[in-house]
Amino acid sequence: MSSNTVRSTPAIGTMMAHASVRAFTDEPIDEGLLVHLVTAGTRASTSSNMQAYSVISVTDAGLKKAIAGLCADQAQIHQSAAFLVFCADLHKMMLACERHDTEPDPAGQAEVLMVAVIDTALVMQNVATAAESVGLGICMIGAMRNHPYDVAEALHLPDHVIALAGMCIGHPAEQPEVKPRFPLDAALHHNRYRSDEELTTLIQRYDESQAKWYADRDMHVRDPRWSAVISRRLPKLANRAAVDTFLRERGFLSK
Ligand SMILES: Cc1cc2nc3c(=O)[nH]c(=O)nc-3n(C[C@H](O)[C@H](O)[C@H](O)COP(=O)(O)O)c2cc1C
Repeated sequence: MSSNTVRSTPAIGTMMAHASVRAFTDEPIDEGLLVHLVTAGTRASTSSNMQAYSVISVTDAGLKKAIAGLCADQAQIHQSAAFLVFCADLHKMMLACERHDTEPDPAGQAEVLMVAVIDTALVMQNVATAAESVGLGICMIGAMRNHPYDVAEALHLPDHVIALAGMCIGHPAEQPEVKPRFPLDAALHHNRYRSDEELTTLIQRYDESQAKWYADRDMHVRDPRWSAVISRRLPKLANRAAVDTFLRERGFLSK
Protein backbone atom coordinates (compact mmCIF):
# COMPACT_ATOMS: atom_id res chain seq x y z
CA MET A 1 0.00 0.00 0.00
CA SER A 2 1.27 3.48 -0.85
CA SER A 3 2.64 5.46 2.11
CA ASN A 4 0.38 8.27 0.86
CA THR A 5 -2.84 6.39 1.62
CA VAL A 6 -4.94 7.70 4.50
CA ARG A 7 -5.35 4.65 6.68
CA SER A 8 -5.11 3.67 10.29
CA THR A 9 -2.24 1.67 11.66
CA PRO A 10 -1.78 0.13 15.11
CA ALA A 11 0.42 3.12 16.04
CA ILE A 12 -2.16 5.67 14.91
CA GLY A 13 -4.93 3.63 16.53
CA THR A 14 -3.07 3.76 19.86
CA MET A 15 -2.67 7.54 19.58
CA MET A 16 -6.29 8.12 18.63
CA ALA A 17 -7.50 6.01 21.58
CA HIS A 18 -5.45 7.92 24.17
CA ALA A 19 -7.24 8.92 27.34
CA SER A 20 -5.50 9.58 30.65
CA VAL A 21 -6.15 6.78 33.16
CA ARG A 22 -6.46 7.71 36.83
CA ALA A 23 -7.45 4.36 38.36
CA PHE A 24 -5.28 1.26 38.21
CA THR A 25 -5.56 -2.35 39.37
CA ASP A 26 -2.88 -3.68 41.70
CA GLU A 27 -1.41 -5.93 38.99
CA PRO A 28 2.33 -5.23 38.76
CA ILE A 29 4.25 -4.43 35.59
CA ASP A 30 7.13 -6.70 34.69
CA GLU A 31 10.44 -4.86 35.16
CA GLY A 32 11.62 -6.10 31.75
CA LEU A 33 8.53 -4.59 30.11
CA LEU A 34 9.11 -1.24 31.83
CA VAL A 35 12.70 -1.17 30.60
CA HIS A 36 11.42 -2.05 27.11
CA LEU A 37 8.97 0.88 27.21
CA VAL A 38 11.62 3.35 28.34
CA THR A 39 14.00 2.02 25.69
CA ALA A 40 11.33 2.70 23.06
CA GLY A 41 10.89 6.14 24.60
CA THR A 42 14.54 6.96 24.10
CA ARG A 43 14.21 6.27 20.37
CA ALA A 44 12.53 9.66 20.05
CA SER A 45 14.28 12.28 17.96
CA THR A 46 16.64 14.39 20.03
CA SER A 47 18.19 17.77 19.30
CA SER A 48 21.72 17.21 17.89
CA ASN A 49 21.66 13.81 19.59
CA MET A 50 22.08 15.65 22.91
CA GLN A 51 19.60 13.39 24.73
CA ALA A 52 19.07 16.08 27.34
CA TYR A 53 16.84 13.98 29.61
CA SER A 54 16.88 11.43 32.37
CA VAL A 55 14.11 9.14 33.50
CA ILE A 56 13.95 8.08 37.14
CA SER A 57 11.92 5.00 37.97
CA VAL A 58 10.58 5.31 41.50
CA THR A 59 10.32 1.80 42.89
CA ASP A 60 10.96 2.45 46.59
CA ALA A 61 7.55 2.48 48.32
CA GLY A 62 8.50 5.14 50.89
CA LEU A 63 9.98 7.41 48.24
CA LYS A 64 6.93 6.99 46.02
CA LYS A 65 4.68 7.94 48.90
CA ALA A 66 6.79 11.01 49.59
CA ILE A 67 6.78 12.00 45.90
CA ALA A 68 3.01 11.52 45.73
CA GLY A 69 2.70 13.83 48.74
CA LEU A 70 4.64 16.48 46.82
CA CYS A 71 2.26 16.02 43.88
CA ALA A 72 -0.98 16.84 45.72
CA ASP A 73 -1.34 13.20 46.79
CA GLN A 74 -3.07 12.26 43.54
CA ALA A 75 -4.61 8.81 43.95
CA GLN A 76 -3.33 7.53 40.61
CA ILE A 77 0.28 7.95 41.77
CA HIS A 78 -0.35 5.71 44.77
CA GLN A 79 -2.18 3.17 42.59
CA SER A 80 0.28 3.10 39.71
CA ALA A 81 2.32 -0.06 39.17
CA ALA A 82 5.20 2.05 37.88
CA PHE A 83 6.00 5.70 38.41
CA LEU A 84 8.52 7.44 36.19
CA VAL A 85 9.93 10.92 36.64
CA PHE A 86 11.04 12.67 33.46
CA CYS A 87 13.82 15.18 34.00
CA ALA A 88 15.24 17.80 31.69
CA ASP A 89 18.93 17.07 32.13
CA LEU A 90 21.87 19.27 31.18
CA HIS A 91 24.09 17.70 33.83
CA LYS A 92 25.33 14.94 31.52
CA MET A 93 26.22 17.58 28.92
CA MET A 94 28.23 19.45 31.53
CA LEU A 95 30.12 16.25 32.40
CA ALA A 96 30.81 15.69 28.69
CA CYS A 97 32.19 19.23 28.39
CA GLU A 98 34.36 18.68 31.46
CA ARG A 99 35.99 15.74 29.69
CA HIS A 100 37.00 18.12 26.93
CA ASP A 101 38.01 20.99 29.17
CA THR A 102 35.26 23.33 28.09
CA GLU A 103 33.08 25.10 30.59
CA PRO A 104 29.91 26.24 28.93
CA ASP A 105 27.38 28.17 30.98
CA PRO A 106 23.90 27.21 29.78
CA ALA A 107 22.33 29.74 32.15
CA GLY A 108 20.65 32.57 30.37
CA GLN A 109 20.28 30.74 27.10
CA ALA A 110 16.60 30.02 26.73
CA GLU A 111 17.53 27.89 23.72
CA VAL A 112 19.42 25.37 25.88
CA LEU A 113 16.45 25.07 28.23
CA MET A 114 14.15 24.57 25.26
CA VAL A 115 16.35 21.80 23.87
CA ALA A 116 16.19 19.93 27.16
CA VAL A 117 12.44 20.43 27.64
CA ILE A 118 11.63 19.36 24.09
CA ASP A 119 13.91 16.31 24.25
CA THR A 120 12.35 15.24 27.55
CA ALA A 121 8.78 15.76 26.37
CA LEU A 122 9.39 13.66 23.27
CA VAL A 123 10.72 10.75 25.33
CA MET A 124 7.80 11.09 27.71
CA GLN A 125 5.22 10.92 24.94
CA ASN A 126 7.03 7.99 23.31
CA VAL A 127 6.93 6.05 26.59
CA ALA A 128 3.23 6.91 26.96
CA THR A 129 2.40 5.64 23.48
CA ALA A 130 4.54 2.53 23.94
CA ALA A 131 2.75 1.77 27.23
CA GLU A 132 -0.68 2.31 25.73
CA SER A 133 0.21 0.16 22.75
CA VAL A 134 0.61 -2.84 25.07
CA GLY A 135 -2.69 -2.14 26.86
CA LEU A 136 -1.38 -0.22 29.85
CA GLY A 137 -2.84 3.09 30.99
CA ILE A 138 -0.90 6.24 31.76
CA CYS A 139 -1.41 9.58 33.46
CA MET A 140 1.19 12.32 33.26
CA ILE A 141 1.80 14.33 36.43
CA GLY A 142 2.72 17.97 36.01
CA ALA A 143 2.16 18.47 39.73
CA MET A 144 5.75 17.24 39.91
CA ARG A 145 6.62 20.93 39.55
CA ASN A 146 4.56 21.99 42.60
CA HIS A 147 7.59 21.61 44.87
CA PRO A 148 10.68 21.49 42.65
CA TYR A 149 13.21 21.83 45.49
CA ASP A 150 11.72 19.02 47.59
CA VAL A 151 11.46 16.76 44.54
CA ALA A 152 15.09 17.50 43.64
CA GLU A 153 16.18 16.66 47.16
CA ALA A 154 14.14 13.46 47.29
CA LEU A 155 15.59 12.26 43.97
CA HIS A 156 19.12 13.59 44.56
CA LEU A 157 19.04 15.74 41.43
CA PRO A 158 22.26 17.63 40.76
CA ASP A 159 22.34 21.18 39.36
CA HIS A 160 21.15 21.43 35.76
CA VAL A 161 18.47 18.77 36.28
CA ILE A 162 14.77 19.50 36.83
CA ALA A 163 11.90 17.04 37.18
CA LEU A 164 9.46 18.18 34.50
CA ALA A 165 6.69 15.66 34.96
CA GLY A 166 5.90 12.25 36.31
CA MET A 167 4.06 9.40 34.64
CA CYS A 168 1.82 6.85 36.33
CA ILE A 169 1.71 3.58 34.43
CA GLY A 170 -0.46 0.63 35.28
CA HIS A 171 -3.17 -1.79 34.29
CA PRO A 172 -6.31 0.32 33.85
CA ALA A 173 -9.13 -0.10 36.35
CA GLU A 174 -11.27 2.29 34.29
CA GLN A 175 -11.80 3.00 30.63
CA PRO A 176 -12.15 6.75 30.36
CA GLU A 177 -13.71 8.20 27.26
CA VAL A 178 -11.50 9.87 24.69
CA LYS A 179 -11.73 13.62 25.40
CA PRO A 180 -12.64 15.81 22.45
CA ARG A 181 -9.87 18.11 21.23
CA PHE A 182 -10.06 21.46 19.46
CA PRO A 183 -11.51 21.48 15.96
CA LEU A 184 -8.40 20.61 13.94
CA ASP A 185 -8.44 24.00 12.19
CA ALA A 186 -7.49 25.64 15.48
CA ALA A 187 -4.37 23.48 15.68
CA LEU A 188 -3.43 23.00 12.03
CA HIS A 189 -2.71 26.22 10.17
CA HIS A 190 -1.73 26.49 6.54
CA ASN A 191 1.13 28.75 5.55
CA ARG A 192 0.17 31.46 7.98
CA TYR A 193 -1.14 31.69 11.51
CA ARG A 194 -4.90 32.11 11.55
CA SER A 195 -6.50 35.47 12.34
CA ASP A 196 -7.91 36.13 15.80
CA GLU A 197 -11.34 36.32 14.19
CA GLU A 198 -11.04 32.76 12.86
CA LEU A 199 -9.58 31.50 16.13
CA THR A 200 -12.28 33.15 18.20
CA THR A 201 -14.94 31.42 16.12
CA LEU A 202 -13.16 28.09 16.54
CA ILE A 203 -12.80 28.61 20.29
CA GLN A 204 -16.51 29.39 20.52
CA ARG A 205 -17.31 26.22 18.59
CA TYR A 206 -15.10 24.18 20.90
CA ASP A 207 -16.62 25.83 23.99
CA GLU A 208 -20.09 24.85 22.82
CA SER A 209 -19.07 21.28 22.04
CA GLN A 210 -17.32 20.91 25.43
CA ALA A 211 -20.39 22.22 27.24
CA LYS A 212 -22.55 19.71 25.34
CA TRP A 213 -20.06 16.87 25.96
CA TYR A 214 -20.28 17.36 29.73
CA ALA A 215 -24.06 17.97 29.69
CA ASP A 216 -24.65 14.79 27.63
CA ARG A 217 -22.82 12.84 30.30
CA ASP A 218 -24.59 14.57 33.17
CA MET A 219 -21.20 15.65 34.45
CA HIS A 220 -21.55 18.75 36.57
CA VAL A 221 -18.36 20.72 36.48
CA ARG A 222 -18.06 24.44 37.08
CA ASP A 223 -18.40 25.97 33.60
CA PRO A 224 -16.87 23.29 31.34
CA ARG A 225 -16.30 25.61 28.38
CA TRP A 226 -12.65 25.34 27.34
CA SER A 227 -12.08 29.08 27.45
CA ALA A 228 -13.59 29.25 30.94
CA VAL A 229 -11.41 26.38 32.16
CA ILE A 230 -8.30 28.05 30.74
CA SER A 231 -9.21 31.43 32.19
CA ARG A 232 -9.30 29.81 35.63
CA ARG A 233 -6.28 27.57 35.06
CA LEU A 234 -3.71 29.89 33.50
CA PRO A 235 -3.55 32.37 36.41
CA LYS A 236 -3.07 29.43 38.78
CA LEU A 237 0.23 28.56 37.12
CA ALA A 238 1.60 31.58 38.98
CA ASN A 239 1.43 29.31 42.06
CA ARG A 240 4.43 27.50 40.60
CA ALA A 241 6.71 30.53 40.95
CA ALA A 242 9.25 28.22 42.61
CA VAL A 243 9.92 26.71 39.17
CA ASP A 244 11.28 30.07 38.07
CA THR A 245 13.55 30.42 41.10
CA PHE A 246 14.62 26.78 40.77
CA LEU A 247 15.63 27.25 37.13
CA ARG A 248 17.68 30.31 38.09
CA GLU A 249 19.37 28.70 41.08
CA ARG A 250 20.09 25.37 39.41
CA GLY A 251 21.88 26.74 36.36
CA PHE A 252 19.15 26.70 33.71
CA LEU A 253 18.51 30.46 33.63
CA SER A 254 20.65 33.43 34.57
CA LYS A 255 20.09 34.74 38.09
C1 LIG B 1 2.66 17.66 31.13
C2 LIG B 1 1.33 17.15 31.63
C3 LIG B 1 1.05 17.17 32.97
C4 LIG B 1 -0.16 16.66 33.46
N1 LIG B 1 -0.38 16.64 34.80
C5 LIG B 1 -1.48 16.03 35.30
C6 LIG B 1 -1.65 15.89 36.70
O1 LIG B 1 -0.84 16.35 37.53
N2 LIG B 1 -2.76 15.22 37.12
C7 LIG B 1 -3.68 14.70 36.27
O2 LIG B 1 -4.64 14.09 36.72
N3 LIG B 1 -3.54 14.82 34.92
C8 LIG B 1 -2.46 15.46 34.42
N4 LIG B 1 -2.26 15.55 33.06
C9 LIG B 1 -3.25 14.95 32.14
C10 LIG B 1 -4.12 16.02 31.49
O3 LIG B 1 -5.03 16.54 32.42
C11 LIG B 1 -4.84 15.39 30.30
O4 LIG B 1 -3.89 14.94 29.37
C12 LIG B 1 -5.80 16.36 29.62
O5 LIG B 1 -6.83 16.75 30.48
C13 LIG B 1 -6.41 15.74 28.38
O6 LIG B 1 -7.08 14.55 28.71
P1 LIG B 1 -6.68 13.17 28.04
O7 LIG B 1 -5.21 12.94 28.31
O8 LIG B 1 -7.54 12.14 28.68
O9 LIG B 1 -6.96 13.30 26.57
C14 LIG B 1 -1.11 16.11 32.55
C15 LIG B 1 -0.82 16.12 31.17
C16 LIG B 1 0.38 16.62 30.73
C17 LIG B 1 0.69 16.61 29.25
